[in-house]
Amino acid sequence: MESEKRFKGSIGTEYALFEKSYPHFRELQDGVADEISKYTIGRKNVRVLEIGCGPGPTSDRILAKNVGVTLTAIDNEQVMINQARDHLKDYGERVELFERDALDFLKETSDSSFDIVVSAWTLHNFDQDYRKNILREIIRVLKSSGVFVNADKYAQDDEKKHFEDFNWSIKQFIECMGEVGYPKICYEWILHMVLDESKNSLMKEKDSLVQLLELGFLNPRIIWRKRMEAMIIAQKRGMGD
Ligand SMILES: C[S@@+](CC[C@H](N)C(=O)[O-])C[C@H]1O[C@@H](n2cnc3c(N)ncnc32)[C@H](O)[C@@H]1O
Repeated sequence: MESEKRFKGSIGTEYALFEKSYPHFRELQDGVADEISKYTIGRKNVRVLEIGCGPGPTSDRILAKNVGVTLTAIDNEQVMINQARDHLKDYGERVELFERDALDFLKETSDSSFDIVVSAWTLHNFDQDYRKNILREIIRVLKSSGVFVNADKYAQDDEKKHFEDFNWSIKQFIECMGEVGYPKICYEWILHMVLDESKNSLMKEKDSLVQLLELGFLNPRIIWRKRMEAMIIAQKRGMGD
């Protein structure tokens, strides 16, 4: 089972415009890296898997702020992996990049391979079945007491708030792309945002926490939110849990 490729067009080649449109883009990336730091401080050879690295903004922050980390990052779009290769070249052997479908990669990975699995702005692109399979594989490939961090679009259960933030996001795209010479890319992002709302892919906050619990994760919780985006953390059970 493979997921649909949603970044093969100009929103992939011009991904930097997304960064410019979102005032909290950098805060989210730094937040992921800082959260990971809580589990890596003073440790060496911490193995981290990143799902959907895109051109490498999350990977870059993780590697810069966590010197003990070696990162395996995967993405199924060639255009993204090529940008990531260039962006992350100074980290040398601390980073390994693979152009692969996330689920295929996970299925080929042995049990208990990674200390941390991380993702940003990727899992919401998946349909519900594919995402459930991904989460099932994530807990399998995590080591005992391993940590899962996902910063992503998590729809708030309060629909009014959700749609206020949806409108705010659309306005960011219009102001930062549509009105400054990129109307076609602006249109593609708006279409992408509308499709994210479909029942088959919308990732709701409460349902996601329940799902993680049902899959066996310990204490899944939201640790940050801004507008459409939230960061979830959960842990695999360890010996004493
Ligand atoms: C919105 S980008 C996020 C990039 C980066 N993590 C960030 O926060 O900006 C989502 C990335 O996930 C990748 N992706 C989507 N579905 C995938 C899949 N099934 N397997 C691997 N990568 C996937 C896309 O190609 C895209 O580069």
